[in-house]
Amino acid sequence: MTRVIAFFNQKGGTAKTTSTLNVAAALAERGCRVLTIDLDPQASLSMAIGTDVTSLDLSVYDLLLDDEIGIDQVTHPTTITGIDIVPSHPDLAAAELELLNVLERERQLDHRLHAADLSAYDYVLVDSPPALNIISINILVATGELVVPIEPHPLSLMVLKRLFETIRRISRLNPGLRVLGFLPTKVHHSSRLAQDMLVQLEEQFPDLPLLPAIPLSVRGAESTAERTSVLQYMPRSNVAAAYRDVGRWLEEAGND
Ligand SMILES: Nc1ncnc2c1ncn2[C@@H]1O[C@H](COP(=O)(O)OP(=O)(O)OP(=O)(O)O)[C@@H](O)[C@H]1O
Ligand SMILES: [Mg+2]
Repeated sequence: MTRVIAFFNQKGGTAKTTSTLNVAAALAERGCRVLTIDLDPQASLSMAIGTDVTSLDLSVYDLLLDDEIGIDQVTHPTTITGIDIVPSHPDLAAAELELLNVLERERQLDHRLHAADLSAYDYVLVDSPPALNIISINILVATGELVVPIEPHPLSLMVLKRLFETIRRISRLNPGLRVLGFLPTKVHHSSRLAQDMLVQLEEQFPDLPLLPAIPLSVRGAESTAERTSVLQYMPRSNVAAAYRDVGRWLEEAGND
C-alpha cells in the first residue's frame, strides 16, 4: 500500500518544503521509493530537487486542470536516487480561479491519485502552499496522512485553530484523514520560544505526537541552493540525523 503524506501548514516558512525534500531523502536512503508532488506555485521543491521549471511541458497544473492527464505523464526523475517528482509551475497560481468552474473542484487531486497506478512507490509526499485555498483543500481531501511542520514563532499556535477547523469541515470528503502529528522545525534548543511552543503544543493537543525535532541550522539551509537534500549535502550534520529520525518515525507510524 502506497502511503500519501502531506506536509501542511497554511503559515509560510515553517519548513514544509525543506521537510518534504529531506524526509523523501531519508526514506529513499532506507530503500523506499518516493514520489514527491509539488503543489506550491512557488515551485520551491521542484527547483530544490533540480527541476528546470521554465522548460517543463507539463506540470502539476496540467494534472489538476486536465482530467485526461495522468500522474505518469507529469512525473520526472530527480538527482536523488529513489525520488521522483511531479513538479510545480508558476501557472498553478491561476488554478484557484480556473477550478471555479470545475465540478467537484476540491476533489481533482484525489481523483488523479485514485486513477494512477502508484504501486511503484512506497510513499507519495506532498508539499503544500502556505495557504488555505482550493489547492490546499485538494491536498487535505486527497491525502491519507498529514504532518504539520511548525516553527517556534508567536503566530505558530494561532494558525492551528483554523487548520483544524478546516480539517473538520472537509472530514465528510476525507473521513480517513489521519493527522500524524507536529514536526517542530528550526528548533534552537536553548531558545525559550522553542521550549514554550513545545510545552504549549503538548498542552493544547495532548493526543497529537511531536515528531523528532529538526534543529535550526543556517548551513543546512544552504543545501536547497545546492539543489539537493541535507542528507546528500551534509550527511553527518545534526539536521540530516534529525530527518533520518523523522523517516524512521514515519515508517514506524505506518505499522500502527
Ligand atoms: N532547520 C533549518 N534551519 C534553518 N533554516 C531552515 C531550516 N529549515 C528550513 N530553513 C529555511 O527556512 C526557510 C523556509 O523554509 P521552507 O521554504 O522549507 O518553508 P516552507 O514552509 O516551505 O515555506 P513556504 O510557506 O513559503 O512554502 C528557508 O529559507 C529554509 O532554507
Ligand atoms: Mg514551501
